[in-house]
Amino acid sequence: MPTSSPPHVRTTEFAPRLAALLDDHLGQDVFRLESDTIGIAGHEVTHRILAARRARDTERPTFKPLLGRSIPRTEASAVMRTIGNDVREALGNPLPKDVDLSGPWPLTGHYFLRDLILGRDPYRLRLLMSRNLELTPKLTWSVVALGAALPGRPRPGDDLTGLATRVAQATGYQERRYAMGMYRRAAAPVCFTVSTLVANALWLGFPFDDSTPNRNIIHESMRLLPPSWNILRNASPEYAAVDGRIGERDDLLLLPLLSQRDPALWDDPDAFRPDRWNDLDPDTAPGYLPFGHSSERCWGRHMVMPLAELLLDLIRHSGLEVDPDQRVARVPLLGLLGVGEVRLTPAARAR
Ligand code: HEM
Repeated sequence: MPTSSPPHVRTTEFAPRLAALLDDHLGQDVFRLESDTIGIAGHEVTHRILAARRARDTERPTFKPLLGRSIPRTEASAVMRTIGNDVREALGNPLPKDVDLSGPWPLTGHYFLRDLILGRDPYRLRLLMSRNLELTPKLTWSVVALGAALPGRPRPGDDLTGLATRVAQATGYQERRYAMGMYRRAAAPVCFTVSTLVANALWLGFPFDDSTPNRNIIHESMRLLPPSWNILRNASPEYAAVDGRIGERDDLLLLPLLSQRDPALWDDPDAFRPDRWNDLDPDTAPGYLPFGHSSERCWGRHMVMPLAELLLDLIRHSGLEVDPDQRVARVPLLGLLGVGEVRLTPAARAR
């Protein structure tokens, strides 16, 4: 059995604005956050808002307009099929031997997934998966522009992932730039978001009981630390009709971070209890929206689950543990919610 410090001695420190959201608004349904923004955490009103209209393209996390171009649904579906095939293919191959998953997470998991899924793509494309590029979109676009302009680019017929083949097939600088932007858009959530989700689970609950299924661990960690902690909907006339407290010019921030800890909906809401999912259906549990609303649920969730389960399986059989000396993890205020760093180290017995 790993010798990790048990989860109850670990402290999760939210960035001040996230902590203030939890302190000030937990259990509320509709509340003003800014002069032009309303927060929504009540599960019934959340449901009515998200069912009132489809997301506009500027509100969509993955397929918002790219280089000023709106992305039609047909193209978005084709890209999703492509990355889905790339993930399936990677999962169908034998795993690399002697994988070392020790080190800081989510970074370690991110690079493992990048190499597993995109390992055969040329460096200029894998470079787009660098976590440093999250810091500024400007830097991302400089790397994209450079990659699109340099000679020696990937060609159709090279041994590439489907996603990279789309880049190889693009003709002309502008099209290549667009295809590389799409590469990053589609591959980033597969690597960044999944490794963040797993890092959150490790922090919240490792070591897990041998009898606890990975699925329950994933659902429960997405409840307490949802990577997509807010869902944005811009002002729209439909919303004032849903609730009189919403003005026609108010943007809405729907907050699974709050509804998923609402004491009216969850027993022992702040406790990490994967066994609660023995009897709960993640698709219908009120207030539980880590993958969005039933009207428009995440298109990538069927990739997320097997990848996260694979990582958890590898870690649970690796002889690693969460560093027993680590007592605090910080959750910064970013679009993607997760612990900044969890250290995985060889278990004391194995050291
Ligand atoms: C832990 C991982 C992930 C989480 C927590 C997550 C969460 C979400 C959420 C909450 C939504 C609804 C957004 C809204 O209604 O505005 C959504 C939509 C979507 N997600 Fe995910 N997602 C994850 C991974 C992925 C991956 C790996 C992909 C694709 C490679 C993906 C592609 C999409 C797409 C295409 C949509 C529809 C909206 C759009 O076009 O952007 N997601 N996701």
